[in-house]
Amino acid sequence: MHPACLYDYRALAQKRLPSFLFGYLDGGSFGELTMRDNEAAWARHRLRQFVLRDVSKLEVSGSLLGRAASLPLALAPVGLAGLMRRRGEVQAARAAEAFGVPFCMSTVGLCSIEEVRAATREPFWFQLYLLRDRGIVKELLARARAAQCSALVFTVDLARLGIRYSDIRGGVNAPPTLKSQLTRVLDVLKHPRWLADVAIGGQPLVFGNLTQYVPAARNPEHFKAWVDSQFDPSASWKDIEWLRTQWDGPILLKGILEPDDARMAASVGAQGIVVSNHGGRQLDGAQASADALPRIAEAVAGKLTVLVDGGVRYGNDLIKARALGADGVMLGRPWAWALAARGEQGVREVLGMVDNELRNSLGLMGHTSLNDLTRDSLLSPVARD
Ligand SMILES: Cc1cc2nc3c(=O)[nH]c(=O)nc-3n(C[C@H](O)[C@H](O)[C@H](O)COP(=O)(O)O)c2cc1C
Repeated sequence: MHPACLYDYRALAQKRLPSFLFGYLDGGSFGELTMRDNEAAWARHRLRQFVLRDVSKLEVSGSLLGRAASLPLALAPVGLAGLMRRRGEVQAARAAEAFGVPFCMSTVGLCSIEEVRAATREPFWFQLYLLRDRGIVKELLARARAAQCSALVFTVDLARLGIRYSDIRGGVNAPPTLKSQLTRVLDVLKHPRWLADVAIGGQPLVFGNLTQYVPAARNPEHFKAWVDSQFDPSASWKDIEWLRTQWDGPILLKGILEPDDARMAASVGAQGIVVSNHGGRQLDGAQASADALPRIAEAVAGKLTVLVDGGVRYGNDLIKARALGADGVMLGRPWAWALAARGEQGVREVLGMVDNELRNSLGLMGHTSLNDLTRDSLLSPVARD
């Protein structure tokens, strides 16, 4: 199949990845209501079309956190990306750099900050969770600073890890039994391309940023168990104030769904927020991010950079995000599908598709710049509070 849209990479990824891994990538929490609603919420908005307005020249580039970007889009942090493709974080970071958008590296990548830094020229963003051990937080921040990471994306919607049925079924997180190990081996053997590329060719399969803290860990699942035990449910706004003293670059708080929390983010000194429900992987039943966006953008207009993620699957979704007040979007699963399917080139292709779709629709709407978009550019459903 020659992929025509972002979903085509999902189908290719499903073929290539062992099923436990595709389940980890694709799943959400509980009944996946929020995950599905993320996509549906973008689809509820309609675009207004104006004609005969000379749309021969289009402008879709801009800046994110003060740096030029060829699209107002960043690759969202996706843990274990290095299991999707050999040294996956490096491949994705290179694709983002070639395209001219920021790559945000997850705390729980297989490649370390230093490995990604060595393979790229442009600064990337670093995502961090509040770990119980603040000493480790400080050390990771020092490494991110040394690697010249240009922004810290601090994820705040993971005080507890969401319950994802696909991970339970796939045996991710659970202590291995003889039966589950056998099932895993068969699963992997059925995917020889992945076996050769990642399991054999992509070694070492350890969490590059955390090796010194979990010396006994032998595989990504051991690391994941350790990280899960490190999530700090006592985290509060005071910790963000502390974080502010530890990092002098821009901080984006990721996982905001309420205007009051967005105002708090501004008052504790963050530069931005990501309106996000973690792609429907945390609180199932939480509001779709596209639905949460307008009131949040209104609450902090001019004070914070506002990004949004969750269910962005078409260039049109970026148009809708901008019209609803976001400065840009983050793309999650689609870049990881593309990475699994076709490596660095796949991620570049996906970015090219978003760009192409965006230009196409912007012109057909009768606009020449993303800056022309306002709430008035959409026909939107009545907001549900
Ligand atoms: C497999 C997977 C792993 C993720 N890992 C992280 C992570 O390590 N840190 C984080 O802040 N968000 C993580 N997220 C959430 C994404 O950053 C992003 O919020 C979400 O994927 C956006 O929704 P979308 O996948 O519908 O585009 C992960 C998402 C997925 C699908």
